[in-house]
Amino acid sequence: MSEKKIPVIIDCDPGCDDTAALLLAFRCPEFDIRAVTTVSGNVSLDKTTYNALRVTEAIGSDVRVCPGADRPMFRDAVYAPHVHGEDGLLGIPLPAPQKKASFYKAWDFIYEEAVAQKGELEIIAVGPLTNLSIALGKYNDLAGLIKRIVIMGGAAQGGNVTPCAEFNIYVDPEAASMVFRSGIPLCVCGLDVTLKAYLTAQEIKNIKALGTPQAELFAGVTQENCEKRFCPAGAPLHDPAAVLFAADSSYFTVQRCWMGVETKGTITLGKTVTDCWSDAQKEPNVDLVLDVDRERFAARVKELMGKY
Ligand code: BDR
Ligand code: CA
Repeated sequence: MSEKKIPVIIDCDPGCDDTAALLLAFRCPEFDIRAVTTVSGNVSLDKTTYNALRVTEAIGSDVRVCPGADRPMFRDAVYAPHVHGEDGLLGIPLPAPQKKASFYKAWDFIYEEAVAQKGELEIIAVGPLTNLSIALGKYNDLAGLIKRIVIMGGAAQGGNVTPCAEFNIYVDPEAASMVFRSGIPLCVCGLDVTLKAYLTAQEIKNIKALGTPQAELFAGVTQENCEKRFCPAGAPLHDPAAVLFAADSSYFTVQRCWMGVETKGTITLGKTVTDCWSDAQKEPNVDLVLDVDRERFAARVKELMGKY
């Protein structure tokens, strides 16, 4: 690993797996986390922001939390309380945060930081892509200033909200389409890889047994049976997969290809369409992450949680 840390902003909608992702990201030596930005997604913006504040406080970080969009670009909000609970954290009791949300809006801080980092800033986007699309709309030169966006979203095959759409893309397909067409280097960790990035019930117990409040929180938000249908072997760590890929991609499998977002379909709304298994090849715009060495992934999760 090089000495220089990667300046990153984590754009998220906590959210259970977002919380696991934050717990891991703040112990990755690879990152210099400049801000956490929040968006309407798993629950409403006021709740995702409140959760980001209390989770980062539980982590012991005074990182800036910048609230972003309270609804998708052109559509009504869609939430996922059946997965994350009404409060977004399955009712897990965490102390109320002492710190307040930043006065910066997510898109303004993303731009200011992109300028300040002179082309080195990376974004890890693990919620709907509304904040990034607003940033791109507001700041014409932003695309050229971001080094890379690692996205948890979409799927080359299948979906978890509809037969062909994944939640983060389905919630705001127009925003996702704008990001996919932005020209910014993109790495897409969709369901293809995140359903393979799971922890078994025993591995979750082992993390809980580390005995720290943070390990307890990680285990609490990582429910082994919540996506049994999609991932019978354990609990898929969707958002953590994007974080750990951004930190070290060496044990992931990537295919360079084109990917776009269906914004007009009725039954296909929010589908991420790719040419990775097609003869009709288009100009590639993404590194599509398709597989992971699960044992290494699980070991890294344990190692990072052991740092609390
Ligand atoms: C994604 O949707 C959200 O519910 C999770 O936080 C994750 O970002 C998985 O489809
Ligand atoms: Ca998320």
